[in-house]
Amino acid sequence: EFQYPHTFILMGASGDLAKKKIYPTIWYLYRDNLLPKHSKFIGYARTKQTMQDVREKTKKYMKVRPGEEELLENFWAANDYLAGSYDKRIDYEFLNQLISKHEKGICANRIFYLAVPPTVFEEVTVNIKNACSSIKGFTRVIIEKPFGRDDVSSEKLSNHLATLFREEQIYRIDHYLGKEMVQNLMTIRFANQIFNPAWNRENIASVLISFKEPFGTEGRGGYFDDFGIIRDVMQNHLLQILSLVAMEKPVTLNPNDIRDEKVKVLRHINPIELKDILVGQYVGNPDGQGEEKLGYLNDPTVPKGSVTPTYALAALWINNARWQGVPFILRCGKALNERKAEVRVQYKDVPGDIFSGHSKRNELVIRVQPGEALYLKMMSKSPGMKFDLVETELDLTYSTRYKEASVPDAYERLILDVFTGTQMHFVRNDELKEAWRIFTPVLKKLEENKIKPVPYVYGSRGPPEADGKLSEYDFKFSGSY
Ligand code: BG6
Repeated sequence: EFQYPHTFILMGASGDLAKKKIYPTIWYLYRDNLLPKHSKFIGYARTKQTMQDVREKTKKYMKVRPGEEELLENFWAANDYLAGSYDKRIDYEFLNQLISKHEKGICANRIFYLAVPPTVFEEVTVNIKNACSSIKGFTRVIIEKPFGRDDVSSEKLSNHLATLFREEQIYRIDHYLGKEMVQNLMTIRFANQIFNPAWNRENIASVLISFKEPFGTEGRGGYFDDFGIIRDVMQNHLLQILSLVAMEKPVTLNPNDIRDEKVKVLRHINPIELKDILVGQYVGNPDGQGEEKLGYLNDPTVPKGSVTPTYALAALWINNARWQGVPFILRCGKALNERKAEVRVQYKDVPGDIFSGHSKRNELVIRVQPGEALYLKMMSKSPGMKFDLVETELDLTYSTRYKEASVPDAYERLILDVFTGTQMHFVRNDELKEAWRIFTPVLKKLEENKIKPVPYVYGSRGPPEADGKLSEYDFKFSGSY
């Protein structure tokens, strides 16, 4: 497929995502010589601006190391920009001409990255298809959430896309699938005889998958309030992790075999019930507790009296032979005490404990960020004369074990996958459909009944009620997470 040159077209090139994430990402891929030779990059958006403006706006986000200045010049020389509307066919014909000009008569593969607001999504995709498709090479589109806001709107979008592109052309990004430890989940599970045979309801009490962020909406309240933390993080990032933790072994590593298993395990999950969810919303920190922070409702970009959750904890139940009765607890929140994303697989108590009940539960911890790590909490004899138990860890912390290795950024990995045509780490249409089936009813109930989220203080561990919920789902504390 690399026989043709490649053109990467960034739709929405003047927006925030483009500036902060996508331009830097394509620069790093270019810098590290990972992209096909002669790749060209074209930005397209409504804003009238020159390449010089693009360079200036993105400068602060593009890391350039000493000695890379010339390479950066070459990168920008391979870039172009065109201003145009999102709805007029004629503008896309100009875009097509510009792409063709850079292709120099050789028909290139074309990759469109849609960093545009969801409101223009349909018109942009129709016009790309009709005016800008590659004739001989491939045309691929990369899209990002929101993929609708419930089952009905998501299905409408999927049907629309399906009239324009084949599934192999559509790359739905969930950037958590590009994270090192999320990609490691399958290896941990299926390349180690030690884990897989005990990966089931006989041995595992509960699984906790959490996402914590130490900042609130801070000016992004308008977007966030429409969606809330359940749609922003839980329905996509955390559910994707769940499916990789819980799925059966795929027949092969073929992307469709893997995604078949992910869909299958999701199909075993009933829609979440109201009793299995706890929602929270952060309030300002009282005087004297560190730097003053505004509560969610005090953010001027948040509508008055909003009941949108900024924190949620939900238990999901997988009704199959492996997992029946094991709660999968998804937990996520903004404005908490730290940044952390991790999976905790908590094993059952040792039956017939001969250590007077002092044996604590084993726990396999997969830390996604910050600081990738895999560790197993286990009991050991305390070294020395005494015959005491001590809880310790078998520890694979990346920063000490793999000193030289650098972990690539999720977006770099995923965008490169689109060039090479690897769909393994992208969300298939039927996965998305299952995700909405699981979450839509409870979202509706929360919204229709205007269920008030419980308050928690900015910078805290979350609502105090959440700890009670964890023990209700048979997750025992042995730390403060
Ligand atoms: C995004 C959410 O998908 O993920 C954001 O929309 C969130 O609200 C972000 O901050 C977190 O990503 P990361 O990679 O920083 O954990």
